[in-house]
Amino acid sequence: MKCKVCREPAIIDIRRHNANFCSEHFVRYCHDQVARSIKEFAMCSPGERLLVAVSGGKDSLAVWDILDSMGYEADGLYVGLGIGDYSEGSGRYVQAFAEQRNLRLIEIDLRESYDYDVPTAAAVTKRVPCSACGLSKRHLFDSAAVDGGYDAVVTGHNLDDEAAVLYGNVMRWQTNYLGRQKPVLAARKGFPRKIKPLVRLGEREMAAYCIVRGIDYQVEECPMAAGNKHLQYKEILNMQEAASPGSKAAFYFGFLRDAVDRFDDDPADDTLGRCERCGAPASSEICSFCRLVQRTEGAAPVSVPIPRSKRKSKAAERAISTSDGVTT
Ligand code: AMP
Ligand code: FES
Ligand code: ZN
Ligand code: ZN
Repeated sequence: MKCKVCREPAIIDIRRHNANFCSEHFVRYCHDQVARSIKEFAMCSPGERLLVAVSGGKDSLAVWDILDSMGYEADGLYVGLGIGDYSEGSGRYVQAFAEQRNLRLIEIDLRESYDYDVPTAAAVTKRVPCSACGLSKRHLFDSAAVDGGYDAVVTGHNLDDEAAVLYGNVMRWQTNYLGRQKPVLAARKGFPRKIKPLVRLGEREMAAYCIVRGIDYQVEECPMAAGNKHLQYKEILNMQEAASPGSKAAFYFGFLRDAVDRFDDDPADDTLGRCERCGAPASSEICSFCRLVQRTEGAAPVSVPIPRSKRKSKAAERAISTSDGVTT
């Protein structure tokens, strides 16, 4: 397998492009794909201040690295969600990355600043953890960007993420979400611009990028996301991609080219008022984030449940250790 550019040994093959690259040209390919997305969708311009939401995973650390290498003024934002060891480990990867590169990192910890965490909020609201998690992240990304005077919030959503979300929204004909599934969302009253510069790059490419660039990242999946539909959609699309390379990109970019504009992306936010507690845009007196904070007030902290896969192995361990005295 040889690099398409220099004919030296390749380290990765990208089937949908029918191309192989050595490490140097793979890094260049990733940068080119980001530059192309930025230009094509008019995401941002040199000189603008960007706030990169970094989770400690491969995608967001990679996009921060790429934007910094391209000369953008890009600060990081990490939200500590209080999901046990997973959040603590994720935070450490982000801090190490920022320190090594001397980049500015804003950290907000839900427990320290708002006296709740995602497991506790999930228990209080009796909803899936991703619901309180997503609500908290959206609110804090927006308010940190508006308060800090940033021009845009950057997230690490990649092609696999966007294709899976699109698939889910099409499966359920969530037309209101379809209209907003663009790689750039313009700033609106009280909301910053939001951009996704990795839409041309897949998950596997981002993992390879981090390895080549020596970026250490959180490899664990969130323990509270087990069984989440998004992961199922990704598996389905991976099967399709294996059978027919390029399907994911055709699905997503075809939607952006031919269909997204048929769905109205203009939520009726002219009527939005301001939250009485925090000043964020809100459709009632108190915004949904502040309502969540109020609801969790005084709730006893809930610990992170053990994911089902690990539970099974614990049960199996117990079964083995108690059956006929066999302990291995
Ligand atoms: P997810 O919703 O977990 O798939 O994450 C999507 C994107 O949101 C990531 O690529 C990051 O840009 C951002 N993100 C997720 N979790 C956090 C976090 N705890 N702090 C800051 N940004 C995050
Ligand atoms: Fe949000 Fe897991 S990262 S619930
Ligand atoms: Zn090469
Ligand atoms: Zn509020």
